[in-house]
Amino acid sequence: MESINFLNNEGTFSVRQAENYSHLYFPIAGEEGIKSSLSPNLGGDSKLNQNSFVIEPVSAENLHNNRSGRNFWCNVDGCGSWSVVGVSAEEECRKFTKEQDDSELTAGFMWQTVTRTSQKYQLSAKVTSFVPLKHNVEIMQVEIRNNSNQQQVITPIAAIPLYGRSADNIRDHRHVTSLLHRITTTDYGVMVKPTMSFDERGHKENHMIYYVCGISGNSEKPQSFYPIVEEYIGEGGSFTHPQAVICNKSGENAGRYYEGKEAIGGIRFETVTLKAGESTSYTILLGATDSSEEITELIQKCNKDEKVKVMFNEMKEYWQSKVNVRFYTGNNGFDSYMRWVSFQPILRRIYGCSFLPYHDYGKGGRGWRDLWQDCLALLIMDPTNVRQMILDNYGGVRIDGTNATIIGEKQGEFIADRNNITRVWMDHGVWPFITTKLYIDQTGDIGILNQDVSYFKDQQIERGFGKDIRWKEKYGNVQKDIKGKTYSGSVLEHLLLQHLCAFYEVGEHNHIKLRGADWNDALDMAEKHGESVAFTCAYAGNMKEIALYMKKMKDILNISTVELLVEMRMLLQDDIEIYENIMEKQELLHNYTILCRHNITGKKVKIDIDSIVSSLEHKADWLMQNIRKHEWIKDLDGNGWFNSYYDNDGKPVEGVLNNGVRMMLTGQVFAIMSETAQKEQVSAICKSADRYLYEKEIGGYRLNTDFHEQKFNLGRMFGFAYGEKENGAVFSHMTVMYANALYRRGFVKEGYKALQTLADTALNFETSRIYPGIPEYFNSKGRGMYHYLTGAASWYMITMLTEVFGVRGETGELVIRPKLVREQFDKEGRASVQLLFADKNFIIEFYNPNGHTYGEYQIKRAVCDNNTALYNSGMQVCLSRKKIIEMDNSIHKIIVELK
Ligand code: G1P
Repeated sequence: MESINFLNNEGTFSVRQAENYSHLYFPIAGEEGIKSSLSPNLGGDSKLNQNSFVIEPVSAENLHNNRSGRNFWCNVDGCGSWSVVGVSAEEECRKFTKEQDDSELTAGFMWQTVTRTSQKYQLSAKVTSFVPLKHNVEIMQVEIRNNSNQQQVITPIAAIPLYGRSADNIRDHRHVTSLLHRITTTDYGVMVKPTMSFDERGHKENHMIYYVCGISGNSEKPQSFYPIVEEYIGEGGSFTHPQAVICNKSGENAGRYYEGKEAIGGIRFETVTLKAGESTSYTILLGATDSSEEITELIQKCNKDEKVKVMFNEMKEYWQSKVNVRFYTGNNGFDSYMRWVSFQPILRRIYGCSFLPYHDYGKGGRGWRDLWQDCLALLIMDPTNVRQMILDNYGGVRIDGTNATIIGEKQGEFIADRNNITRVWMDHGVWPFITTKLYIDQTGDIGILNQDVSYFKDQQIERGFGKDIRWKEKYGNVQKDIKGKTYSGSVLEHLLLQHLCAFYEVGEHNHIKLRGADWNDALDMAEKHGESVAFTCAYAGNMKEIALYMKKMKDILNISTVELLVEMRMLLQDDIEIYENIMEKQELLHNYTILCRHNITGKKVKIDIDSIVSSLEHKADWLMQNIRKHEWIKDLDGNGWFNSYYDNDGKPVEGVLNNGVRMMLTGQVFAIMSETAQKEQVSAICKSADRYLYEKEIGGYRLNTDFHEQKFNLGRMFGFAYGEKENGAVFSHMTVMYANALYRRGFVKEGYKALQTLADTALNFETSRIYPGIPEYFNSKGRGMYHYLTGAASWYMITMLTEVFGVRGETGELVIRPKLVREQFDKEGRASVQLLFADKNFIIEFYNPNGHTYGEYQIKRAVCDNNTALYNSGMQVCLSRKKIIEMDNSIHKIIVELK
């Protein structure tokens, strides 16, 4: 069994014989739109978006089934044909035997190199793949070396099938869409420009050119081309045994034209004679563009090895600099791991939730909650545009507190409900505040709460229960007032609507209704009677914090009132009798949504901040009390936990039943995070979670116990095999949020256990079988699934920074309150973190000479740049924003000494 080796402190790693592990893929992409995935054998795909795939789209299972990947052959005179990427019928037979090619995969942010050595052919090859910064193209740089002590005559042939159409066509007119292909050979490659595109947008004239071009490392043009699949593979042939290569058939000249065929970027280079130990190199470009000039320019830019090398180094530097948070704990494996975790939010910004082999759903873009959570990490690493991003995202909220769920490609672009689906996810209202709070903490910009933003409008009204028949496309997607003017309200108003409307939308147990689902997308079958106690906790916790931030707002901005839409005044009623009365709550909400069916008055009223604060606090307290009173489940051994849900029969989902214990993690996370769970309850929950949900070898805390039932009255999750995805896998996102909640409440040992088990499991390549990073979940064998694109990464990084290292903003001031345990310091008792705060670079080093663990140490002193002492209250130190702003742009070092 091979293992992952980290080669430096930038996260670069290597693994031998990576092709002997199924389902491995690696992302390479740029900022201009091209997104690729690469298997160790250079399978995978490449696309600009759902409608423009350069290489045929692949799902995880295609990684070992599909042969339509990037290939590069050497036809070796007198010996046979060697695939330098290991994809040939011959190599397939040698696999798992002593004759198998030796290979090693090395990778860093957005680049992958595979070196491969063949005994039989006495050749080795190094194939590096990356996307250069300024160009929308995937580059495949191939170096071939003659390892024998005799000269060898070889003919190099690149062969990359060009799919050139929409992902939809994979099983929707695959053949018909090939009839649209117009294929040409140019001096450097093969171009496919389909006449039309057939996809969800209809039948349209196409302008996109899909291409594969090649040039030798010292600027020589290819010798000829194989542009047509059926001729390249030959009658009865295949991509792993192509007749053109095996039989060394001559290719076509430049300037040829073909219609209606499956295409391939088959590029035959001049035959070369390599002396013993001599090397040669080739650059292959693959991409899609609507400008043929761009392709010509690109070839000029890549026509020398040295030029490609410069692009490669620029690209490497760029992505390293993007991940400007660095953790040092003395454990190189873990620190390197954190580089990848911190990089993952950038990957999800680029790939959305749709474009890696396991993520074969959706059509690009991200969901509402993903959008907000990815912002968390961006706030830390790339805060420049986050203010605008937050404001634009609030434009997706409807006046009834629900929101648009289809997010367009451009920031702030929300698409009206395409398929008439009126699904409301009840958790959506929770995430914007969490991100906004972090933003205010980091920047001190509490004024953002007063900033006006418009509201989203489509035909969906009354929180998904009605249709606005007066709304037409030409109304547009922005809420108007009775005069037909766009209505804007403050960010605070948006937040209040999200929380207050949810507060009244209760089910039979007076918890907030589950609706179409909550965070757990797969709880989707309890629309009528389902309730989410878990997210009722989350709303209650947020309401308390919104109240807190309103008090801060009052002090800092020196204001005593805020302006709110007149209609929403009724939602602020502060009356315990209404809180207790389910019908009255539902009616009140209904009355409000009726007022906002089409256009709203647009009138605003001034309301006292104090009265809103107490209204929010009373509501939150009431929700929490109701949960504490009714939802606590006692375990047989005196511990316990909270019931997280009610099903569609209105029955509590969790408890100790005859056929076993039913416990879910989600309810515990939000009960702890919101402080619904009191201290002793947190201890009890930890014990129960350890007993029923924890399994060290597979990543730690599972999402739920095995219900042994297909609960059609709750959701599709129970149809999944137990231990997979939302049904009881160790689902990283929720486990990380569990850790985060525990740290917040001071349960550091317990939080550490949850976080560390995830990292240890991911880094155990023997079971996880993923490259470094946090996967969406671990299955029951501890295998990492749905790698790279997960909200867990943002949360892991934020938790490490703001909780474990305890470095965070408090309305703009820098506060340091470490919760590091003994194991997180090196042998000399040091740990550090590097980050950007208020546009200044900081290294914060913790020195723990006595080897204490959390709970045993206090802060002795903290000094910045050897001259400024930080204000010390024993457990935490603070540096004022005023001082930080006066600092220069060098790296500033804060040493925090513990005693
Ligand atoms: C995914 C989705 C997320 C959803 C979660 C649970 O999680 O992206 O929106 O809440 O499944 O159903 P992720 O891949 O972000 O870990």
